[in-house]
Amino acid sequence: MSAIELQALHKRFGNTHTLRGIDLDVADGEFVVFVGPSGCGKSTLLRLIAGLEGASEGRIRIGGRDVTALPASQRGVAMVFQSYALYPHMTVRQNLSFGMAMRGVPKPTIAAKLQSAVALLKLEPYLERRPGELSGGQCQRVAIGRALVQEPQVFLFDEPLSNLDAELRLHLRVEIAALHQQLGRTMVYVTHDQVEAMTLAERIVVLRDGVVEQVGSPLALYTNPANRFVAGFIGSPAMNLLPATVVDATHVRFGNAAVDVPAMTHSANGQPCTLGLRPEHLELASDGPLALRVRVVERLGASTVLHGDLSGQADATAGTAASLLVPRHVAASAGSLLRCAPRADETQVFEDAASAAGRRLSAERPVPAA
Ligand SMILES: Nc1ncnc2c1ncn2[C@@H]1O[C@H](COP(=O)(O)OP(=O)(O)OP(=O)(O)O)[C@@H](O)[C@H]1O
Ligand SMILES: [Mg+2]
Repeated sequence: MSAIELQALHKRFGNTHTLRGIDLDVADGEFVVFVGPSGCGKSTLLRLIAGLEGASEGRIRIGGRDVTALPASQRGVAMVFQSYALYPHMTVRQNLSFGMAMRGVPKPTIAAKLQSAVALLKLEPYLERRPGELSGGQCQRVAIGRALVQEPQVFLFDEPLSNLDAELRLHLRVEIAALHQQLGRTMVYVTHDQVEAMTLAERIVVLRDGVVEQVGSPLALYTNPANRFVAGFIGSPAMNLLPATVVDATHVRFGNAAVDVPAMTHSANGQPCTLGLRPEHLELASDGPLALRVRVVERLGASTVLHGDLSGQADATAGTAASLLVPRHVAASAGSLLRCAPRADETQVFEDAASAAGRRLSAERPVPAA
C-alpha cells in the first residue's frame, strides 16, 4: 500500500504563500503528473511529499501512514532531480551503492540490488566511469538507478528529462513508462512538457499559484477543461481563446460569425464570454464563417501550424491572435487569407477574462475511452 494522501497542505516561505491548500489522493501504483506555469509550486509540492521541506499546515500520508513529521529517510520515497545530483568524484557503481552502504545494507544485498538496477537501466558499460565521463541521458539513467536501488514505495521525479535533447527525452520517457509498468510503484512526475504529461500520466494535476485547478485523465482534461486556464494550458499548440458574446444556449457570436456550441446551462444571452477553439479543430473551408490572416507558417513535417489573426469577418479585419493546425500539403505563406470553420462538436465556451475563475459554460462532452 503506497497511496499518497495530501490534506489541506500549505507551504509558506516567510511571507510567500507558495502552496495554498492542496487536497489530493494518489492511488497505490498510480502515475500522476504535476503541470503548471513556472513558480506555481510543483517542485515545492514534490519536496514536501519527499520530506525535503516541512509543511506549514496540513497532513501527508503515504501508504496510510502519517509521514508529515517524518524525515525524508523514513518516508519510503526516492526522488530524481533535473540536475541528476550525482556525486562527481564517485564511479557509477559507487554512486549506486553509496546510499545502501551508508545505511548498513549487507554487501551481498547491495550487489544483488545493484545488478538488477544495472540490468533494468542498461548501465553495465558505464559502471566504472564517473559522471563527468557520461552523457546527460546516461547520468539521468544512473540517477534513476540510484532511486531504484532504494526500493522506494513512491518515486518522485522533478523534470528528469528537461536537460536532455529531444531524441534522448523520447527514449528515456519510454523507459520510465516501462519502469512503471514493470514495478507497478506509485510515481509522481513534474514536467513542463505537454507530450510527457499526456503520454505518461494516468492522471494530470494542473496547478496554478499554489492551488489545484483540475485533476483528471489526460483525455478528460483535453476534452473538458474545467476553466479557461486549464483550457489554455493543456494541449499543444494551445487552444485559441477568443472574445465572444452569448447569443442563446447553443450559439455564441465571434465578430460577425455565429458559432454552434454544446448547450450552456448557466449563461445569460448577451453575456461576454470566451470561445475556445483548438487549432486542430478549425478546418479550412472556402465558405467558412471565420478568416485567418496568416503571419507565420511553422512546418512541423506531418502537419503545419499557421499563426495569425483570426476574425469573424470574411475579410479578417480586427482579428485575435490564433493558430490553426493543418495538413502539411496546405499552401500558405505570410499574408495569406484563409477561410475556416470550427468543428461544432469540438467548441467550448468559458466565462470571459473579467471572471477570475473563468469556468466552462458549455456542457461536458463524452471523453473518449483511453
Ligand atoms: N526555499 C525557498 N525559499 C523561498 N521561496 C521559495 C523557496 N522554494 C521555492 N520558493 C518559491 O515558491 C514558489 C514556487 O516554487 P517552485 O520551485 O515550487 O515552483 P515550480 O512550479 O517548480 O516552478 P518551475 O516550473 O520554474 O520549476 C516560487 O515563487 C519560489 O520562488
Ligand atoms: Mg520546479
